Amino acid sequence: MKNNKHITQISNVLVIGCGGAGLRAAIEVKIAGLQVSVLGKRIKTDAHTVLAAGGINAALGNVDPEDTWEHHFADTYLEGYEIGEALQIEIMAKESPQLVKEIDSWGANFEKLENGSLDQRFFGAHTYRRTCYSGDYTGLSILKTLIKKAEYLEIPIYDTQYVTELLIKDDICFGAMSFNINTAERTIHLADAVILCTGGHTKIWKKSSSRKKENTGDGFYLSLKAGCELKDMEMVQFHPSGMLFPEEIAGTLVTEAVRGEGGKLINNKGERFMVKYDSKRMELSTRDKVAIANYTEITEGRGTPNGGVYLDISHMSKELIMKKIPSIYRQFLNAQMLDISKEPMEVAPTAHYSMGGIAVTPQEHSTSIQGLYAAGEVAGGLHGANRLGGNSLAEILIFGKKAGIASVNYSKRLKAQMRSDMSVRNAHENINKFLNKGTELAKPLQHQLSNIMWKYCGVIKDKKLLEIGLEKVKEIKRIIKNVDVRIDYQSCDDLVQIFDLESSVITAQATILSALIREESRGSHQRSDHPDLNSSEKCNYYVKLNKQTNDLEISRKNISALNANHIKIINKAKKVDNFTGKLLE
Ligand code: FUM
Repeated sequence: MKNNKHITQISNVLVIGCGGAGLRAAIEVKIAGLQVSVLGKRIKTDAHTVLAAGGINAALGNVDPEDTWEHHFADTYLEGYEIGEALQIEIMAKESPQLVKEIDSWGANFEKLENGSLDQRFFGAHTYRRTCYSGDYTGLSILKTLIKKAEYLEIPIYDTQYVTELLIKDDICFGAMSFNINTAERTIHLADAVILCTGGHTKIWKKSSSRKKENTGDGFYLSLKAGCELKDMEMVQFHPSGMLFPEEIAGTLVTEAVRGEGGKLINNKGERFMVKYDSKRMELSTRDKVAIANYTEITEGRGTPNGGVYLDISHMSKELIMKKIPSIYRQFLNAQMLDISKEPMEVAPTAHYSMGGIAVTPQEHSTSIQGLYAAGEVAGGLHGANRLGGNSLAEILIFGKKAGIASVNYSKRLKAQMRSDMSVRNAHENINKFLNKGTELAKPLQHQLSNIMWKYCGVIKDKKLLEIGLEKVKEIKRIIKNVDVRIDYQSCDDLVQIFDLESSVITAQATILSALIREESRGSHQRSDHPDLNSSEKCNYYVKLNKQTNDLEISRKNISALNANHIKIINKAKKVDNFTGKLLE
């Protein structure tokens, strides 16, 4: 079906991605009185946001009155190993209380204290209890609420649309090309501004908390082709606890809320092993430390029969379990016939979150391409080298809203709309070039890629592993052109798979290149050949696509300078004397 037929849709702002960030952005555009369209490749009620389980952070001080935005800022910056974007973190820490209260008032219905204020639970490495929640389905509550609000505002959401290309001319973005994943019908979406809210790339690891056909790196690749840079792609968060079996769901998230509510990690010797890794914070240490601890126990032979560690909450009452983590209770009962109120779970690290992402400005989340914005997991900068659990749901609301407002302002300022037939023709050609009878199949190649990433770019890496992995990824890249892609009246799956594969391969390459160049261990980036933090690597790495060679290029930049207030807050948290620079204890 090689043709250049399409339908055209026009709006002021096009939002790509119908998860939490996308919907929050679209709501802001609609409230401002502009036309907005939202595209998603999954059914809108099933966007990846539904998997964000344990909670959303806001320094409300409802349970621990000592908490302030400054503490939230310091925890996020320091636990991100000081390479996160300080201004972005400040904005999140300051604005999350208001947006958390707002989404609750829109209907998210978070758990309340007796006095009617929001309850807050412990999450790993937060100094205070600041994670607001709905049981262990907080993301689902938030997504449902946003969908209801979007429907009330009559925002059109076109799900089952796969975006293949952003329309760009002279570094200005003016829309996107998509096809319907059921019919292959193509649409050209013309817009003044585009907001990418397409999630990350952690499905490209064999064990992943993402489901099929999500987080395949497509938003990252769209932005690279548009001319954006990706920042710190080596910073991939492995969640300490994913399910081990059955095979089809291996990697599925076991929320940190289990540990937040008192769950203990135990090895096959019956030892509560976190005492060796972080005796103070134990199971509520940072994600990177708990993931490394679990990984080490397993690889050093102290794992469970199925290759994990035990996570035990059976000492808590069934009432607490059913109230605080009901989904996890059902998840284990349904998948393994295991009653977690009686027996321990078996868990192991799973690829969970892309902390790197598109380079954006801290305030507006604009990119280097005019008219193009990015928010949520696809945007980089907030989490540095280690994301605190609960910060991503705060991120999607705050920066979804900010990107929405920025796109409105941009659209209103725009004097003339960019259009280009050539860009539209290229977008067609970009689909047509794949419609081939070939000798390879996309699905097995995607499977091969996820094994490569797990083996050569997993929880702990070294130069040799990464170099082998890079060669193997490049080999898949070379044969993509030979993939057999057919669409007919019954299925367009081949087309979805080839686009997913191409994006996954390029983002895998970006990740490995970045992991190779960063010669240290920092947070989630662990190199056994460079086991220590290296102060000369306190920087950000950026990847760009060279359009002439179609290869990736990497460069390094200094982290943004901290302002005087940031330094004061951080020194206070580290207990450093501002004047002498010496540790106070
Ligand atoms: O463990 C969890 O519930 C995950 C939360 C998060 O990634 O923020």
